[in-house]
Amino acid sequence: MSQRTLLVTGGAGFIGSNFIHYWLNNYPEDKIINLDALTYAGNLSSLADIESNPNYVFVEGNITDRELVNKIMDDIDVVVHFAAETHVDRSILNPDVFLQTNVMGTQVLLDSALKNNIKHFHHISTDEVFGSLELGSSKKFDENTPYDPRSPYSAAKAGSDHLVRAYGETYGLPFTMTNCSNNYGGYHHPEKLFPLAITNLMDGLKVPVYGDGLNVRDWLYVQDHCSAIDRVLTDGKKGETYLVGGLTEDISNLDVVKLILNLMGKSEDMIEYVTDRKGHDRRYAVDWSRLNKELGWEPSVVLEEGLEKTIEWYKDNQDWWRPLKEESKDFFEQNYKK
Ligand code: NAD
Ligand code: TYD
Repeated sequence: MSQRTLLVTGGAGFIGSNFIHYWLNNYPEDKIINLDALTYAGNLSSLADIESNPNYVFVEGNITDRELVNKIMDDIDVVVHFAAETHVDRSILNPDVFLQTNVMGTQVLLDSALKNNIKHFHHISTDEVFGSLELGSSKKFDENTPYDPRSPYSAAKAGSDHLVRAYGETYGLPFTMTNCSNNYGGYHHPEKLFPLAITNLMDGLKVPVYGDGLNVRDWLYVQDHCSAIDRVLTDGKKGETYLVGGLTEDISNLDVVKLILNLMGKSEDMIEYVTDRKGHDRRYAVDWSRLNKELGWEPSVVLEEGLEKTIEWYKDNQDWWRPLKEESKDFFEQNYKK
């Protein structure tokens, strides 16, 4: 196969950095340009091992910077768009930047992709755009579920999804889209539930659980997400959306935290119930059967195995997460109320 050049936006973040590692391992002949603004969530140490790879180039910059984006897009075959503001709790405290990056930034990329005749624009989105399912119901989100975003984060992501489809319909932009569930694994910022729980427990601190802890998320190991994106980039139909989910069946936050406590040999006294998130979505569940039937993808890592790997990763990479946790101190103080 001839060399392809991929523009990865947000490649210094959690999923983006995992994806770049995945891609360069599986397609070492391809070239990757990583455009990332290095916000609090972007971290070049996640990519330190590939810094000197001749097929990898890092550009520090903002996706809302039209001139810069146009300059970079010149030689690109495929865009894989991860860059976003992603933390729901931060979106509740300060929605502005979510609209700037997730909506306006996506529009700049779309304009530039059209201008430069990009062959494939892949947009990474979330199951949160579909809103909240009833606790106890067996319903799952699928590709036909209507949008019903309920947080500033998910509303801004929904805006970006609509724009991508509109550019497909109106201008013929060749796009694909994936909406995935909650990812977990290494390089995950320690403000998010799993890494927060693991790193707190390593330091003898309690794990904050919002409300009654009965909210349900669908958990997807990040390597499984990368293989799903690979399937869609390789064989996905242009103009189509695929949902990506994991192997969990309705597990509550409380039960996941208990599993982490158990795997780390800690007692349930280490759970601390804190004031619930405003507008906290109750339940997410993802039907990923379309991606399975049409492109042959399925997740391979069950939660317990993925958690064991993730716990090991945080034990082995303390130099990576300790400075990030220190930088997030103000956020932690603002966000958590007993
Ligand atoms: P993250 O917050 O860890 O990383 C986001 C990256 O984007 C960071 O490196 C940050 O510096 C960069 N960035 C932010 N604003 C930017 C801007 N204006 N210009 C350039 N770069 C900018 O996010 P993540 O968890 O890796 O999520 C990646 C994508 O996947 C997002 O689009 C998110 O909505 C989606 N997603 C994530 C999850 C999840 O569980 N993490 C679930 C579903 C969907
Ligand atoms: P999070 O990792 O922030 O992902 P999202 O809100 O995008 O799903 O949170 C996952 C779940 O864990 C969500 O239901 C909120 C809950 N949660 C807590 O109970 N305590 C915490 O400290 C955090 C960060 C999240």
